[in-house]
Formats: sequence, C-alpha cells, structure tokens
Amino acid sequence: MENPIIDLIHQHSSVRHYKPDPLPASMVASIISAAQYASTSSNLQAYSVVAVTDAGRRNRLSKLCGNQAHIREAPVFLAWCADLARLDRVCKLRGCTQVTEFTENFLIAAIDVSLAAQNAALAAESLGLGICYIGSIRNNASEIIELLNLPKLTFPIIGMTLGWSEKRSDIKPRLPLRSVLHWESYSCESEEEDLRDYDKRMIATGIYKGRHVPVPGKPDEMEDYGWTEHTARRVSLASRTELISALEKQGFFMN
Ligand SMILES: Cc1cc2nc3c(=O)[nH]c(=O)nc-3n(C[C@H](O)[C@H](O)[C@H](O)COP(=O)(O)O)c2cc1C
Repeated sequence: MENPIIDLIHQHSSVRHYKPDPLPASMVASIISAAQYASTSSNLQAYSVVAVTDAGRRNRLSKLCGNQAHIREAPVFLAWCADLARLDRVCKLRGCTQVTEFTENFLIAAIDVSLAAQNAALAAESLGLGICYIGSIRNNASEIIELLNLPKLTFPIIGMTLGWSEKRSDIKPRLPLRSVLHWESYSCESEEEDLRDYDKRMIATGIYKGRHVPVPGKPDEMEDYGWTEHTARRVSLASRTELISALEKQGFFMN
C-alpha cells in the first residue's frame, strides 16, 4: 500500500553531511510541535528536547559524542531527554510525591522521548531536511548533562543532527518483512535463508566493500563480509557500561 507518508518513510536515510546554512527557528519549532503529537504514555509527555545551534557548543557536543564531524557541521543538534523533572514540579504544585524509582518510570520517559524524536525525524524529512540519530550522546552522559544544564530526573537518551543535507546516503535495505512481522506468535522459521538473502542485499549496496571473512567453521574459505558478520561483531561488544551510575546520579533507580 502506498501514500505520500508511507512513501516518505521508505525514503529515509541518515544524513551525515550537512550544508552550514542555519535553520529558521520557526522551522525547528514546527518540527518539535509535530514531535509533540506523538502518542505519549497517559499524556505524561515525559520528555524535553534541547535544541543547540551555538557552534562552540556543537563542537563540544561532537567531541563528547565520539568526535562525529556531522555534529559540528549540522546547524542544529537536538538532545532528546527523558524528563520526569517536570512531573516532579507538577506533583509539587498539587501536593503529591512522584514515584520515580522503578524501571517502569524510566521506561515511560525513554519510550515517550523516542516516539517524539521519530515524529520529529519524519516531520524534518517531510520538509526536505536530513537527520541522523546520535546514540553516542550516551558515551559521556555526565558531561552532556553538565553541558546542557540538565536537572535531576532528566537524562539524554538520544541526540539528533538536523539540517540541509549536503550529500544523501543510499537507502539501506531492511530485513525481509517476515523476519520482523510474526503473525499470531513468534516464529523464526526460514530465518537462515532470509538472513543469507539480506546479507546479499546489504553486500550489493557496497557498504562493506572489499571486506572478506572466513566462512564460519571453514577457516580456509573466505566469503564477503555482510550484515550478519557486522552485526554479530557489533553485539559481541559491551558498550556504555557505566550508564547505570550516570542514571542513578540523575535520580533514576531501576527497581
Ligand atoms: C538509537 C540510534 C542511535 C544511533 N546513533 C548513531 C550515531 O551515533 N552516529 C551515526 O552516525 N548514526 C547513528 N545512528 C544511525 C544508524 O546508524 C542508522 O539509522 C542505521 O544504520 C540505518 O541507516 P539509515 O538510518 O540510513 O536507514 C543511530 C540510530 C539510532 C536509531
């Protein structure tokens, strides 16, 4: 099925090269207003977003987020934050005490902010802008918190570069639909065949060009490096293992 919104969604690719042209504040405001109409748990709206345009601050953010050049280049960096601090203030107004110490409280805010961010991504793309999510905002969470003056009960979940794209990347194929869509109950029947097919489609994009690896179980035979190899390596590494202490410092406890 097709319509302009579904078509737009299928055109997505992350942008990592931006023109320096600034974005009008009204454009950023429209994008964030669209973000606000994402569904939100119990209408809590448990998130905030800090829009950074100052070049010095973007430079600092880039350094803290794995030195990614596009954070320096893009005219706007959006720091999407879980935010239970506003709800704390709401409780104070009404003489109540917010419960925040359960995993569920953190998850509510993390889900809310993710949904809002994705609405913003689509709104931006509908205006012809490019975006790229920045998970590396969690590399140095404490420093980001200090830089952005984030109060207790807020936490930077995801960053986003935003601007006019200088160079678009190719659209990355996705897993076959049947790998992610399970009717009635979970099944991974025919998954191996689907993964082999997906490896071929990802290799054909040229993204892993020139990379070869031994065939599993046959060390003398080589094959093209593909998505399964790349992904298996990626998820074999622990990352951001200090997050829990940064979260606790901000007042989030996972009980
Ligand atoms: C939670 C999250 C974190 C990400 N972090 C980064 C990042 O730090 N740097 C980056 O260049 N891309 C980042 N990305 C972009 C992904 O690499 C990209 O979405 C994925 O490879 C699929 O490519 P596409 O967006 O072009 O379709 C992130 C995406 C998500 C959803």
